[in-house]
Amino acid sequence: MSPPTRLRCEYFVNPVGIDVTDPRFSWQMTSDKRGAKQSAYEIEVRDANGEMAWDSGKVVTDQSIHVKYRGRPLVSRDKLTWTLQTWDENDVASGVSEPATFEMGLLEPTDWKAEWIGGSIVGGSRTSVPVPFLRKPFTLKSKPKSARLYVTAAGLYEARINGKVVTQDILTPGWTDFNKRVRYQVYDVGSLLSDGQNALGAILGDGWFCGCVEWRGRQLYGDRPEFLAQLEVTYEDGTMETIVTDSSWTHAYGPIISADILMGEAYDARLEFHGWDLPWFDGAKWHPVDVLEGPKGALVGMSGPPVKKIMEITPIEVKEIPKWPNAEYLFDMGQNMVGHVRLRVSGPAGTTIRLRFAEVLTPDGNIYTENLRSATQTDFYTLKGDGDETWEPKFTFHGFRYVEVKGYPGTPTKDAITGIVVHSDTPPTGEFECSDPLVNQLQHNIQWGQRGNFVDVPTDCPQRDERLGWTGDAQVFIRTAAFNMDVASFFEKWINDLEDSQGEKGEIPPTAPMTPIVGADGGPAWADAFVICPWTIYQCYGDRRILERHYPAMRRWLAQQANTSKDLIRSYPEYEGFKGFGDWLSTKAETPIEIIGTAFFAHCTLLMSKIASELGLEKDASAYFELRSKIQKAFTDAFLTPGGALVSGTQTTAVLALHFDLVPDQHRAKIAQALVDDIGNRGWHLSTGFVGTPYLAEVLTDAGRLDVAYKLLLQKTWPSWLYPVTKGATTIWERWDGWTDDKGFQDAGMNSFNHYAYGAIGEWMYSRVAGIDLDPEAPAYKRILFGAHPGGEFTYAKASLESMYGRIVSDWKIEGGTFTWNVVVPPNTTARIAFPAGCSEVAEGGKAFGGGELASGSYAFNCKYA
Ligand code: BGC
Repeated sequence: MSPPTRLRCEYFVNPVGIDVTDPRFSWQMTSDKRGAKQSAYEIEVRDANGEMAWDSGKVVTDQSIHVKYRGRPLVSRDKLTWTLQTWDENDVASGVSEPATFEMGLLEPTDWKAEWIGGSIVGGSRTSVPVPFLRKPFTLKSKPKSARLYVTAAGLYEARINGKVVTQDILTPGWTDFNKRVRYQVYDVGSLLSDGQNALGAILGDGWFCGCVEWRGRQLYGDRPEFLAQLEVTYEDGTMETIVTDSSWTHAYGPIISADILMGEAYDARLEFHGWDLPWFDGAKWHPVDVLEGPKGALVGMSGPPVKKIMEITPIEVKEIPKWPNAEYLFDMGQNMVGHVRLRVSGPAGTTIRLRFAEVLTPDGNIYTENLRSATQTDFYTLKGDGDETWEPKFTFHGFRYVEVKGYPGTPTKDAITGIVVHSDTPPTGEFECSDPLVNQLQHNIQWGQRGNFVDVPTDCPQRDERLGWTGDAQVFIRTAAFNMDVASFFEKWINDLEDSQGEKGEIPPTAPMTPIVGADGGPAWADAFVICPWTIYQCYGDRRILERHYPAMRRWLAQQANTSKDLIRSYPEYEGFKGFGDWLSTKAETPIEIIGTAFFAHCTLLMSKIASELGLEKDASAYFELRSKIQKAFTDAFLTPGGALVSGTQTTAVLALHFDLVPDQHRAKIAQALVDDIGNRGWHLSTGFVGTPYLAEVLTDAGRLDVAYKLLLQKTWPSWLYPVTKGATTIWERWDGWTDDKGFQDAGMNSFNHYAYGAIGEWMYSRVAGIDLDPEAPAYKRILFGAHPGGEFTYAKASLESMYGRIVSDWKIEGGTFTWNVVVPPNTTARIAFPAGCSEVAEGGKAFGGGELASGSYAFNCKYA
């Protein structure tokens, strides 16, 4: 047995700057032996002086994720190293792991000696101002042994030391409600500093703090970007020195003429000041900075993964568009992507190039920008004219497949433009593939929808003047997201945003971080994200703390639901508050809003009962369980006829009633049949919107109509998942009919081509088609439920998922009357397996398989299949 690997603390490998004082450790056992199981662990944590901070002793348990630190109290700047040993099912010791580390941030407000500073020019709600560059030369008595930069901005920052950028993270510190919390980052910058003269520099973008957010103009939280930094240097002799932001810093406005997330960035290379971030620079003409009050929010440590440049894309084509007086050029990236481009050019000084970005083309081959609404997402670059020039913007991102280039000197080749894909660093965890190439393209589109919309906040879309953390969209997609990528920490951060946005009466708004759009209440299926998302993260990653942390606020929210419902009917007709968005973007099928409201009220009450029980709050658990039974009764009294039919015939009504188990068992078959009939009457098309779509295929599968679920999956005419695929889509469209042959583009006012919500079918593809699911009783895939569901003309499907315990695989194929199924159960987990209908004479590794729970290991099953 070899030592455990993948040691993580708070979901990160060797995190720096956490402020959780009882951080949790997770690891993976490595063994491909059947039945490998942890029987005990011992963790040793030592501090920077080699002193033992915690020795857990040998703890007899199979727990290998989220083990809480219980050593001496952790203090600001603590640097700790941990090692781990485990024992297997036969009590054989693994040997000690490689060491891993974690480091605390600044835990007390008094640890901060720095002051908030900024430039002097202030714009208005519609006028932007140039980007300030800030600098501070300083002297160190010798080359430091170590150094940390504690840094953040209200807005965005790029921090530099002696001419070098301190991190690969971008768009830092991201988006939170700056009135509630401001995340700071901590970077190890020891190697950038030298003996003697040094310089610290910062470039500040408006970002979400004072740039444009949705269509409401600028300055949502403040009037200009502000910067806070504290450089702590430790010398060889153990003495320390601190350099902070204060009135001694100076600033100037230079080449970045404007920078805005929605509008784009403009750069004039002639205005560069060479060496401004080096110590020898002559800063005599720079002006003192303003010392500012700083945002109202509390400073908090690392939460959520940073945004990074994840990959580069080369255009597949560049075309000349004849225009007067000069030709323009159109680059096709071949993929609807989110991020920016790197421009390469040479030409005369003063030449300005304009770059416009769009997701799709009009039928006559021009870029289609109407759907961006007021987001101009346009970049400008003015050449300095000294040979080869390369430029990338810093403080903006665009949603695009096409780049229109105007003013380029000469004829650009494909390498003039490189696409830089930008998103939160949520490592890929899932893969899905099957024998149908169109469905594989759908999976590709779902994953790219996720890439494009997980930029610090789960957004609805990445291109128009919206890009908001829409609660409904996130709730709909979260389970699929958790298959594709490791989103635990990403959602941990956003669920904090959700709680930060909670209203006085307990309401949860339609978007978070807070930007009040339709009032404080997000309404059914939107506000419900506050229960559904924590629950899903708990289910997928075993994160119990997320439930603990938010439980009181979730309780307040559920109380608000009860208080604003009438006889337990939520969004009842006379209700004067916000009733909700309904089954958003459904097609010719209006589901009554009180049905959606009451169904979700019941669903979230049941989840709350499960959450309370998980937290050991049995009284709450039974109270919620009882309340849920009453809501269920109210639902059937109001919406089920005595004959057992639902009063609304929409697909979504049936889906919610069945999926949330709201109707008596004896009526389920009839309701399922009505659902199938409606789908059939529409020529095997769905009519569901955001609310019903995620559960549709699952409900059909559970009702024994896998055939209909596959018909919907494989449907190529609209509305369907594959219709956009047949039209060349490379991401998921907001609307089933974003573009149709007969009508062309949908209403430009709301027509995104990169909206992940309908990608929620991904959950069903992984969990049912390929067959990797979790057992709600044993979260984080501690017990895996394998359940392959072959259908359509599929001859194979396979999926893998990098879970907290390791890699899970389900891989089946049908060949000449034989069904072969290979599965991998990671160490320290078990699995149950359900063979598809039509399987008989199941064998594994050449021997008849008698059933029962699978221990960890790899299995190769085959059976007769008819
Ligand atoms: C957004 C959505 C969101 C919806 C609310 C739209 O503008 O793009 O995806 O959920 O509003 O109905």
